[in-house]
Amino acid sequence: DLKPIKKVVNLHEIGDYAWTPLAEIGNPLRSLEYNPDTKTLRILDQLLLPGETKHVEVKSVEDGYAVIKNMQVRGAPLIATVGTLSLAVDLNQEPALSMEYDMLFSYIEERCQHLLSSRPTAINLKNSINQIDKILDLDLRNMPVDPARLRKSIQDAAYHWYISEMAENDLLLKNATLCIESFSPSSNYKFTIMTICNTGSLATSSFGTALGVIRQLHVRNRLEKAIALETRPYNQGSRLTAYELLHDKIPFMLITDSMAAAAMRTFGVDAVLVGADQIALNGDTANKIGTYSLAVLAHHHKIPFYVVAPVSTINQRILSGSAIKIEERPALELITFNGKPSAPQGTPVWNPAFDVTPASLISGILTDKGNFLPENLASLFA
Ligand code: MRU
Repeated sequence: DLKPIKKVVNLHEIGDYAWTPLAEIGNPLRSLEYNPDTKTLRILDQLLLPGETKHVEVKSVEDGYAVIKNMQVRGAPLIATVGTLSLAVDLNQEPALSMEYDMLFSYIEERCQHLLSSRPTAINLKNSINQIDKILDLDLRNMPVDPARLRKSIQDAAYHWYISEMAENDLLLKNATLCIESFSPSSNYKFTIMTICNTGSLATSSFGTALGVIRQLHVRNRLEKAIALETRPYNQGSRLTAYELLHDKIPFMLITDSMAAAAMRTFGVDAVLVGADQIALNGDTANKIGTYSLAVLAHHHKIPFYVVAPVSTINQRILSGSAIKIEERPALELITFNGKPSAPQGTPVWNPAFDVTPASLISGILTDKGNFLPENLASLFA
């Protein structure tokens, strides 16, 4: 019977449960530091990990765009937070400080458009810029012309986006972790979870999505081990996820992407958990290239396959995954390794950063606003 497994459990169905608050789960790696008083932003340069820990200051939208575009920061929720905060930083200095209202207004609009062109599949950034657009619209219609007030409203909104992520992350992890735990035959049972890419504290400004659940299961003594895919061609799994898991002393095993089927057969994987860069209203989900293959393999092996993502990863404007714009990365990323050629010069390549997993292969979408069968996701916005 190869019918896809469709199953979610929501908190109200679980009854009594004890939750482990995020504050109690140690000190995961921090992807950014932001000071709301001085409007200063520093990011951890993920291109240098795992070898070197170096922070880079983001002093403007241009810097924000650059660190996102060249993947010093990555992961859809983190891209949104860094992009939005880079606008707050930018507005605290010239040329914005001495602009008249009209010029400032156009400047903010233009800077937002620029940010949006950095990594188009990660929809969280578009959703955060939509919040900025709402403020611009409100300001234009209702407020006396005051550039200082406009700057402050945008900076407050950017900060609000940042701090809201922590609260949303707590809810997301609670919903998702308890959903997975509720499928076990006994409370002593320990899960083996497979995951792809990096979806941890390095992909968010909080604790992570799919990898956050893995960390919670570990803290709650319900994790046997994580199986992390290396995630070609950029190796977010081997460089970043392995680094996070070692840092947090979580039991795991690293495999190449091509070992996933064999690992499913060999290790008794209980569930596959992945993050998302963009989810359509019908539940089709864009995530790191290789996610779709993993869903097909999970289906074949009758292993449930869950997407763990905040509601800010849903694109309310698109009905299905065919409308998701997939970012293509430079060919060089595929034909070089550590700066050295890994294929002959002139080799033609296709290098999409993401693929779309059809909703039919997804067991459930676990969010901060509850857990959904893919076909019920749109009810969130009804
Ligand atoms: O290219 P990346 O590293 O930005 O891709 C990241 C992913 O695909 C993640 O799974 C996704 O952004 C969710 S992160 C919580």
